[in-house]
Amino acid sequence: MPSSKVVFITGCSSGFGLLTAARLAGHGYRVFATMRDVSKKDLLLFEAEGRKGASNLTVLPMDVTNPESIRAAVREVAAASGVIDVLVNNAGIGMGGFFEDMTDGDYRDVFNVNFFGALNVIREVLPIMRPRKKGLIINVSSMAAFSGTPAFSAYVASKWALEGFSESLYMELKLQGIDVAVVEPGSYKTRIFKENARYATNFFNLQSPYFQVSQYLKDLVETHAQSNTRDPEEVAAVIENIINKPSPSFRYVIGFRSKLKLFMLRHIPFKFYAWMVRNVLFPKE
Ligand SMILES: NC(=O)c1ccc[n+]([C@@H]2O[C@H](COP(=O)([O-])OP(=O)(O)OC[C@H]3O[C@@H](n4cnc5c(N)ncnc54)[C@H](OP(=O)(O)O)[C@@H]3O)[C@@H](O)[C@H]2O)c1
Repeated sequence: MPSSKVVFITGCSSGFGLLTAARLAGHGYRVFATMRDVSKKDLLLFEAEGRKGASNLTVLPMDVTNPESIRAAVREVAAASGVIDVLVNNAGIGMGGFFEDMTDGDYRDVFNVNFFGALNVIREVLPIMRPRKKGLIINVSSMAAFSGTPAFSAYVASKWALEGFSESLYMELKLQGIDVAVVEPGSYKTRIFKENARYATNFFNLQSPYFQVSQYLKDLVETHAQSNTRDPEEVAAVIENIINKPSPSFRYVIGFRSKLKLFMLRHIPFKFYAWMVRNVLFPKE
């Protein structure tokens, strides 16, 4: 049966956000899909049209780092539907680079989107959910939140922060009848690895002591992303599944590799895990 739930999603111009918005609209949900540049909406509209969901979809401009744009988008949703049943905090960026090549501003840029961006949106949405004593907040985390990864510390740290925040929020919002869940996907070929890829300020600086290893890792990641055949729709399907559960779990690990990684981290010493990672990434070290 089609759902009449109102779903508010961030970062819908590409990747998981786009697919989740199109999928849910196609299945009858009332979807408010936000993106910071609405001139990018055609791909989403095309995808939703193909799933016969375009009439259930409204695209709104919203940058998760800009509180005024969040307030304006939430006001529009409230005026149009009066409620928000589900918030999906999906917007996110990656940034490659060794710590010494990163500036303080680089770290802040990543946190402003991946961590503070989610907080900014939750802050505006909760006053709409709380009086109804129901609602669901799904934060898109990552398997990167399970352990460190060289040359990806800003992203990893931002997702660890999001996880810790989400666990705390889960306990707080239970008191208000609102659920919180995190999804932890493994890697999928979206724009995050190429078109939307970002790099540390000194990533391409020939004087950097990390220059060669950085370029090597960049090629490795791009090759891996290019050959990745996993369908990002899997993530959209898990998000829909969570929305449909009467009592969702807190943590959703998506994909075999993520589950294996989590299992290993729980059962082997960190030093051994780190040795394995180094051997995979830097076999000639
Ligand atoms: N792909 C993976 O392997 C993977 C794995 C685990 C977790 N994730 C997470 O999944 C989420 C979606 O990423 P994706 O893989 O679908 O990558 P993507 O294709 O690059 O999509 C990222 C989305 O976030 C948006 N965004 C970036 N900065 C924003 C801001 N300030 N305000 C609003 N929107 C903003 C982008 O919009 P613009 O078009 O305007 O840049 C884009 O719509 C992210 O949180 C990411 O960390 C991805």
